Amino acid sequence: LLSVSRKLAQWNPKKTMKITLANNSALLQPNFVFGVATAAFQIEGAADSREPCIWDTFCAEPGRIKDGSDGLVACDHLNRWREDVELIASLGVDAYRLSLAWGRIIRRDGSVNQAGLDFYLNLLDALKAKNIKTFVTLYHWDLPQYLQDNGGWLNRDTAYKFADYADIVSRAFGDRVYSYATLNEPFCSAYLSYEAGIHAPGVQNRQWGRQVAHHLLLAHGLAMQVLQKNAPQALNGIVLNFSPCYPATNSDADQRAARMADQYHNHWYIQPLFEGRYPDLLQQLPADEQPSIADGDMAIIAQPLDYLGINYYTRTVYRANSKGWFSDVPPNTPPLTDMGWEIYPQGLTEILLQMHRRYPLPPLYITENGAAMPDQLQDGAVQDTRRLAYFQQHLQATEDAINAGVRIDGYFAWSLMDNFEWAEGYAKRFGIVYVDYQTQQRTLKLSALALRDLFANRR
Ligand code: NOJ
Repeated sequence: LLSVSRKLAQWNPKKTMKITLANNSALLQPNFVFGVATAAFQIEGAADSREPCIWDTFCAEPGRIKDGSDGLVACDHLNRWREDVELIASLGVDAYRLSLAWGRIIRRDGSVNQAGLDFYLNLLDALKAKNIKTFVTLYHWDLPQYLQDNGGWLNRDTAYKFADYADIVSRAFGDRVYSYATLNEPFCSAYLSYEAGIHAPGVQNRQWGRQVAHHLLLAHGLAMQVLQKNAPQALNGIVLNFSPCYPATNSDADQRAARMADQYHNHWYIQPLFEGRYPDLLQQLPADEQPSIADGDMAIIAQPLDYLGINYYTRTVYRANSKGWFSDVPPNTPPLTDMGWEIYPQGLTEILLQMHRRYPLPPLYITENGAAMPDQLQDGAVQDTRRLAYFQQHLQATEDAINAGVRIDGYFAWSLMDNFEWAEGYAKRFGIVYVDYQTQQRTLKLSALALRDLFANRR
């Protein structure tokens, strides 16, 4: 009893339960879209009813995933999707962002897997029936293994295969989709997967990383043409991740390192979209480490976009290294999330303003923002007050950017529920809904309750 009353005494609901925005906040206007996001490999499971993908292969390699886990069951969303649609609707969101598993739709022999397509058709219909706008990402990292066996994103032909896949999907879905994104975070599919080697397929080769980035951007451009033809009524675009780059010290060398990192990690993916060229840094790379770019590619890449999705989690600090390149300096001062990422909400406002000043941007959506925290399910509840505070601060940072003149039309929390966090496995929890992986029971965390209240109170 004593411990219960002590707990209650520490618990100050007024201070921690709510997310508050100014009454006249742009985020509370009727057209602003609030949503939650997921990705196929991270939640679906039911791997036996689709083609294997590069993440299945990667997970099977010892030492690749921290907790040795895989995506075979994940959140069992494939079997529980009806319940999950109810869950999404219960939050009062305007939109749900999901991705499609390419290998659930197109088989190795190129034929269409009707059962896989039907799964998504039913899901989209159920969401539509709840009046929830659907934001569909075509590629969230789960390349079919049969394409990897032919070279994957290193093979230029994969970009054309992607356009064919976009064609099949956008014809089949008709007007069910409110918005398409071609790719999610091509930086991760190129740099983390082929240069840092920490994501599937786990390669470390600089030239390959750049070649993969180029083929991904080409795939995006080709698919944009298809989407604008087949789904002109949808908002069609791409999702990029940004992390503002800061120098570790004021030294010229560190400042230069931070600028290079900014070119390499941020502008590498956005400048081709809006200016049809890579950052100048490309010319400074040794010739044998540059991507090969065919005539006309850059024009294909620079397709007009209906919107740009931006994923933001943290900032990054860089120092110059002895190789004339840059190294990141991992943060060690709190506040950090469970991923070890610094909580730095003003970085969101800054990167939005930087990009807004630099490029002729279409409307923006924050397509991901959120935090992993060491959540505990206790007495049927998860008091994730630090995640709640993270949302409060980043929603405020979004509003600050709008007030400074950036057009932002929506915000998605990452993630709807705890899920497979790639190389980190299931140990890192990003959900606003807690998942008990033994029972697959879902429990709304405090942050979900607070977001639900925020959404409800604007009407
Ligand atoms: C970005 C990715 O799109 C998503 O899949 C991942 O889970 C989150 N960041 C958190 O790392």
